[in-house]
Amino acid sequence: NKKTMAILVTGGLGYIGSHTVVELLKNNFEVVIIDDLSNTEKFILENIEEVSGKKPIFYPFDLKRKELLKQVFDAHQIEGCIHFAAFKAVGESQVKPIEYYENNLFSSINLLQEFRERNISNFIFSSSCTVYGQADKMPIDEETELKLPESSYGKTKQMGEEILRDFAAAYKKRVTLLRYFNPIGAHPSAKLGELPIGIPNNLIPFVMQTAAGIREKLSIWGDDYPTVDGTAVRDYIYVVDLAKAHVKALQKLINSTQEKVIDIYNLGTGKGSSVLEVVHAFEKANDVKVPYEIKDRRAGDTTIAYANADKAEKELGWKSETSLKEALRTVWQWQKYLETRDN
Ligand code: UD1
Repeated sequence: NKKTMAILVTGGLGYIGSHTVVELLKNNFEVVIIDDLSNTEKFILENIEEVSGKKPIFYPFDLKRKELLKQVFDAHQIEGCIHFAAFKAVGESQVKPIEYYENNLFSSINLLQEFRERNISNFIFSSSCTVYGQADKMPIDEETELKLPESSYGKTKQMGEEILRDFAAAYKKRVTLLRYFNPIGAHPSAKLGELPIGIPNNLIPFVMQTAAGIREKLSIWGDDYPTVDGTAVRDYIYVVDLAKAHVKALQKLINSTQEKVIDIYNLGTGKGSSVLEVVHAFEKANDVKVPYEIKDRRAGDTTIAYANADKAEKELGWKSETSLKEALRTVWQWQKYLETRDN
């Protein structure tokens, strides 16, 4: 009575998670999703099925519910996990730090206990370039010194990484830490994307809603940075490209002959774009206007951050393929899709 092997994807109905589930299904992985729907909606599951033509198994609960988690591991032969589920709003984490530490750390620890008890390896962790803080030189490679992030959110990512390093070392497990730069865009089908819940904090969802007339004006947080045009520079990576990197990272872990692995990869394009460049690229790509005004700098923002993603190319055979313009087109298609759903 051998159960089929499955990959557990926590937060699999979230923004990056949902795109990754589609890529996993495309590559014939069996997928088990756990998502508490705290920052997404159930229709995303239907859309994953529509887009991929396959059905992932879905459990709606919070990873802090240890007894429910156990049941999932009892019911399925889990051979690895991609752990996306986490709170991720930087500003919110500053006013609710305990909620962030509890949610983001306990969920990881509960998963790792199951991995240890059942002797499962192959754990992929969603980390962030926020672990580098304001790096001293660009581009940022994986050897760049880590700095304690300013936000509690960022600290949970750095602590999560540390917990996983100890886990891999002590129990001889295979672990990959993926450090995302700024994920943007939506699925080409326009059926999956970043669900803007409340007032968006991140640049692209705010630009999207401003172009759609939902927001009056975009505030650009500072134009006095020492950059090309004074606005801050980031590395915007297309979410489907990012999702594909997860499949490559998972295949590498599963196929590894080593007992213990701690791999770390930056996932970015290797190219920096300023806020104004992004705004103008969005206008051009979609033939729309994005009214904006310049405001003071946002507390905690770094001036410039872009990746050296050579290691992922060399070791995973992965690189960013989609242009900023193309990625920004998918954002607008997604907005139009959301409007048809509202009506
Ligand atoms: C933030 C987090 C990062 C997290 C990422 C995705 C920090 C310092 N950064 O990245 O850890 O992984 O979100 O959730 O913890 N901007 C505007 N106006 C806006 C919104 C943004 O000008 O309305 C600017 C920002 O100042 C920044 C750029 O756009 O220069 C990108 O901002 P954002 O999308 O929020 O991402 P980050 O702050 O880079």
